[in-house]
Amino acid sequence: MLILGVESSCDETGIALYDSAAGLVAHALHSQVAMHAEYGGVVPELASRDHIRRVVPLLRSVLAQSGKALADVDAVAYTRGPGLSGALLVGCAFAEALALALDKPTLPVHHLEGHLLSPLLSADPPTFPFVALLVSGGHTQLMRVSAVGDYELLGETLDDAAGEAFDKSAKLLGLPYPGGALLSKLAEAGTPGRFSLPRPMLHSGDLNFSFSGLKTAVLTLVREHGDSADENFRADAACAFQEAIVEVLLKKSLLALKQTGLQRLVVAGGVGANRQLRASLDAAAKRKRFRVHYPELEFCTDNGAMIALAGCLRLQAGAVAKPAGSFAVQPRW
Ligand code: KG4
Ligand code: ZN
Repeated sequence: MLILGVESSCDETGIALYDSAAGLVAHALHSQVAMHAEYGGVVPELASRDHIRRVVPLLRSVLAQSGKALADVDAVAYTRGPGLSGALLVGCAFAEALALALDKPTLPVHHLEGHLLSPLLSADPPTFPFVALLVSGGHTQLMRVSAVGDYELLGETLDDAAGEAFDKSAKLLGLPYPGGALLSKLAEAGTPGRFSLPRPMLHSGDLNFSFSGLKTAVLTLVREHGDSADENFRADAACAFQEAIVEVLLKKSLLALKQTGLQRLVVAGGVGANRQLRASLDAAAKRKRFRVHYPELEFCTDNGAMIALAGCLRLQAGAVAKPAGSFAVQPRW
């Protein structure tokens, strides 16, 4: 079975081909980050228009890389939500129209299911069941993943997502959008312990998160210091922010493993690329004897491969692909 995957929920256009027997055959991605950077965030209308420009060239690139023809495709999987409605509509219209023309069925996929299953694209994939820590620009969730399609929400953020907290704090420290990775780099030059920021909900006993207070604490720090151009200050503040958020993500992940009795943790979403988070989780895994899996770095952020994979696994788990032609998205799914 050859599945074409289409991702367009936010500011990345991703197209991929996944074969149920051979695995990932080819994938191509275009990131709009540079286009949105000058506005300090994603501009939905620009995102939609750019997806329109990218989908066909990316599809051609994937076909050329793989040596496959459109006629070889058995079904088209695409992100139906959650995400920006205009951006989602581009991927949906493209996927549904293509499938209709090819007389093939479609598989609408939940974007977060794509992230959850993305570590299965790696050479050493986790086995079910596992706990998943999903940390992206839009979501922060802990899930129990028992099988494909069998997910239980254990906890989530009550306000900002982890990536959003990274990006907002980065902005307060004068870094351009999206500042998560830049803040992390800046933090490497910082002195640990010079500032201490709050660890929101660390001892709440449940598996929920709250990050808006942490962002406010960074704002207060910047105001109190007065000179936000001071390099040492910025690095030390970035370091304090990263230490606080990583500690909360670590402790809640450990609590989720304890509460579920599971011994495998999967980390997915853009913040999963964070080096300090990975180092802390790896050290805890060694100490406490659990395994931690990460998607390949290129599949941490949004991509088409995880959507093709999720569609394929869903089909194998008995999901029925729909006849093409339903142009509906679920931005708040
Ligand atoms: O999963 P993703 O690509 O998109 C969403 O679905 O949101 O995640 C993007 C988020 C952004 O907030 C970005 O700043 C953050 O992931 N991010 C990082 C790092 N790389 C990306 N945050 C912290 N450290 C990083 N190295
Ligand atoms: Zn995402």
